Amino acid sequence: MSSPRGQFSSRIGFILAASGSAVGLGNIWGFPTNAAENGGGAFVLVYFLLAFCLAYPALMAELIIGRHTRANMVSALQIISPGKTTRLLGKLTGFYGIIVAALILSFYSIVAGWMLAYLLEPMVSLSGLPGLANWLTEFSAPRNLLFCAIFLIVTCAVISAGVEHGIEKWSCRLMPALLAMMIFLIVYVLTQPGAVDGLKLYLIPDFSRIGDPKLILSALGQAFFSLSLGVGTMLIYGSYLRPDDNLPAMGAIVTALDSSVAFLAGLLVLPAMFVARHQGVEIYTPQGALMAGPDLIFQTLPALFKTMAGGTVVALLFFTLLSIAALTSSISMLEVPVSYTLEQHVASRPMATWLSGAIVFAISAVIVMNFDTLFAAVVTLTTHYSQPLLGLMLCVFATWVWRRDRVLEEIRRGLPDVQHSLFWRIWPGYAKFCCPALILLVLAQSLMN
Ligand code: TRP
Repeated sequence: MSSPRGQFSSRIGFILAASGSAVGLGNIWGFPTNAAENGGGAFVLVYFLLAFCLAYPALMAELIIGRHTRANMVSALQIISPGKTTRLLGKLTGFYGIIVAALILSFYSIVAGWMLAYLLEPMVSLSGLPGLANWLTEFSAPRNLLFCAIFLIVTCAVISAGVEHGIEKWSCRLMPALLAMMIFLIVYVLTQPGAVDGLKLYLIPDFSRIGDPKLILSALGQAFFSLSLGVGTMLIYGSYLRPDDNLPAMGAIVTALDSSVAFLAGLLVLPAMFVARHQGVEIYTPQGALMAGPDLIFQTLPALFKTMAGGTVVALLFFTLLSIAALTSSISMLEVPVSYTLEQHVASRPMATWLSGAIVFAISAVIVMNFDTLFAAVVTLTTHYSQPLLGLMLCVFATWVWRRDRVLEEIRRGLPDVQHSLFWRIWPGYAKFCCPALILLVLAQSLMN
């Protein structure tokens, strides 16, 4: 009998869903552009170090808490807290997580909407509707609102179908497609003239940049964002895991998949920029820096596609890739408020889903209407500050607040010999002292800059 609470039906279902959450615009757009801005290979090295040494332990805190409590973040942190004060703190932290998840989804769906518009553009152009094609690629509030709404509707449709028939089913369909498209695009781009210059920039580390605080902060933010940490996404996915799955291994697989896709995306985007340059497209800003933000995705690369043989197909594939990546991530964000509402027993899953979706869209609309003042501010507030802070809180709850023997018991269910494993020798002390200290250090540094 299936449990009344959702559950992933298989191990691979969880792995694809959790890596679907992790692999998103952050990997395909954020990672390569961050690398381009921060000394190429130097950034890649620091990123990998931080992903495994800081983000993975925090991911484990979420997965263990989630699977033990089988609850959303608000209830979960209360369940593992022994005292009154810690319970209150747990509740507040949980709500903070939900709010941050909703805010992240509200800007994420605006960006994902752009991907949808750019996905339609080549088809509209081919159908001989240049006016409409222009509208699709021109920045305007009506376009932004329309496509953000479409994207959120698709997200809601998946989430309202539930854990197994929505999240798991669609992640299992979309993630293999994403990988296949990506590999095809990489092979295609790497065979074009100019690609090698991009590869060099990406893979040869500029060691003089390695200690740069800006580089480290960007890499940490990128790692937390990329692994969907802090807001309870991974906690809730962990709560849908079967009790006998090996948690440290699951977390390691998800971290490795996420980092590999980010690395692959770098092999696509940076060489593509230099192929574009070879074709006469400008890839440096007037200040001499490599283009990174929206201009890269929405001007440089489309300009490149136009010069390529079969460029329409390449453009179509590229924006389909980005849209799929965004969808498997956005569903995981929406599941955070939805699971909370569901577990308060106030609404059915479809009701909870469409209500949460509507609230998120209202926030997106406010951001769209005040784009210049709000967009960057919301991104910074949520991803640079709130996510690391929440990640820190989750480490604290898993190691300071929660009883250590309970943690051990939970991991043992899928890994009977846990006490003698490398994981148990390192993780508890590490997540207790090193993770919070390192996160604080990076945060303090960013506040001083
Ligand atoms: N990790 C996703 C990406 O790289 C985005 C994402 C999904 C996310 N769920 C999240 C980010 C929760 C922060 C919090 O694009």
